[in-house]
Amino acid sequence: MAILRKEHPAEFDILVVGSGIAGLFAALKASAFARVCVLSKGRLDDSNTWHAQGGIAAVLGDNDSTAQHFYDTLAAGAGLCNEAAVSVLVEEGPRYVRELSELGVPFDKVGEHFALAREGAHSKGRVLHAGGDATGRLVQETLQAQVLQSEMITVREQTLVTELLLSADTVCGVRTLSGQVLRSRAVILATGGLGQVYIHTTNPPGATGDGVALAWQAGAEITDMEFIQFHPTAFRGSLEGETFLATEALRGEGALLRNAKGERFMPAYHELAELGPRDLVSRAIMEQMKKYPGPVYLDITHREASFLRQRFPTVYRLAQQAGYDLAVDRLPVWPAAHYAMGGVLTGLYGETSLRALYACGEVACTGVHGANRLASNSLLECLVFAARSVSRIEQEGADFAMAVKSSRQLPLLKLLPERIASLRQHLRCLMFEEAGILRHRDGLAQLDEFIRQQLPLLRGRPATREVSELQNLFVTAGLIVYAAQVRQESRGAHYRLDFPQTGATPVRRSLPAVRRGDSFAPLSV
Ligand code: FAD
Ligand code: SIN
Repeated sequence: MAILRKEHPAEFDILVVGSGIAGLFAALKASAFARVCVLSKGRLDDSNTWHAQGGIAAVLGDNDSTAQHFYDTLAAGAGLCNEAAVSVLVEEGPRYVRELSELGVPFDKVGEHFALAREGAHSKGRVLHAGGDATGRLVQETLQAQVLQSEMITVREQTLVTELLLSADTVCGVRTLSGQVLRSRAVILATGGLGQVYIHTTNPPGATGDGVALAWQAGAEITDMEFIQFHPTAFRGSLEGETFLATEALRGEGALLRNAKGERFMPAYHELAELGPRDLVSRAIMEQMKKYPGPVYLDITHREASFLRQRFPTVYRLAQQAGYDLAVDRLPVWPAAHYAMGGVLTGLYGETSLRALYACGEVACTGVHGANRLASNSLLECLVFAARSVSRIEQEGADFAMAVKSSRQLPLLKLLPERIASLRQHLRCLMFEEAGILRHRDGLAQLDEFIRQQLPLLRGRPATREVSELQNLFVTAGLIVYAAQVRQESRGAHYRLDFPQTGATPVRRSLPAVRRGDSFAPLSV
């Protein structure tokens, strides 16, 4: 690739939007041949990555094989995985996990070997972890340190991207909240997840689906948006919104789920009991909460306090802060929105339907997760497809056009803070009720109407981060609701009460791509 000299601070070879594992890894890889700028809307470490607990799945143990990892991933994906992408994931993944270790991520070990944990729907223990359950933080800190040392990488924190800029069909830069235009030969979207679309979520406040909204508004193809994974065991606090993740690895170490009567119930639902697929465990919990009003509990009181403190220091501490001692108390839990399987459609090299726009990490839909993600495959996907995106950009080396054209010429939109907060809250509650774990035609239609009513009020260039995020939440919610209405079957994480059966033939991409336009495509399906 021809390297641009850094004559103008607003021009780079590659702009990376996002500073989680995908963005930072992509930046490091690209720094070998290009001038890179990493943009992050908050602090560098304000990411989903930082919160990851369980670890990274990869075949590094003697007793395991990539074929088994491949089949476990496909089984979780409920018939919708892109097999070529899964093959790439499981074959190339171990190499990048070793690279992380060489960069300094202190993965936990047993003797000379990586300690490998078991998580839901994995046939083997193959999840590497660091600091017990502090994997995400340690990965984030290690990659950040490397990025900050690199002379080829410029880092801009507190820089919210509000628009992708196009020249004909080629993406050639971004606009930021302050109105600054940054130009580049390629843009890598690594903006992470969208859990904040739901009132109960494991995701931090910044996970507002920005990348999906940005890409959709620029005309990129978006897919599989109906598949939202709910993690079965988020702490259920007594205060509104008070939550934290209680990692699945706890169940891997023997934690049991009990209903309000204190009875264990998972063996009646799945042969793997507590370690069954997440969608099934989440639905089972919702059913038990309805049947026996009151919370469902995660119970690991049969393990020693010393073991719990050492293996799960993060969850142990968070539980303690909420007034629970994991060695003594059962922890009240319930499902919370956790991960988006869909997103910006990409090929095997992160390429999107728009020239010079690449996507990797949670914002992308490579198809590796199908209708339901296998635990701890996300961090792995971030690494593999970040590296692949960069390798494609390097190969292309093309002279992309640099003339900037704005995709939106809109007036500045100001909203009162109270209005923003109440709209955000209302949308998130409705999404949880009607487009969450259980969905039905009627609820989806009501939600659709609400979103359509609000969207025109939200047009305009955002004046603040809060307005920008609100716009992105509405666009993202609209895409989820659209996709959920179109898929008239139950599959993986998408469960329709009015269509409880799974269709005979798994169809991926059954949705028409939702494309840029003034309104959503007709929803009378
Ligand atoms: P993120 O890490 O979310 O980073 C996104 C970045 O984009 C952030 O820096 C953000 O500020 C920036 N950004 C977003 N929008 C904009 C914008 N408009 N302008 C500028 N910057 C922007 N997965 C696993 O595989 N194993 C686990 O153990 C695991 N545990 C998890 C635990 C929790 C509590 C959560 C929430 C998720 C967990 N996951 C796990 C999922 C996994 O952590 C995420 O899917 C993954 O970290 C996503 O990485 P990313 O780089 O794509 O995005
Ligand atoms: C967890 O630790 O339970 C989360 C793992 C994941 O989401 O992959």
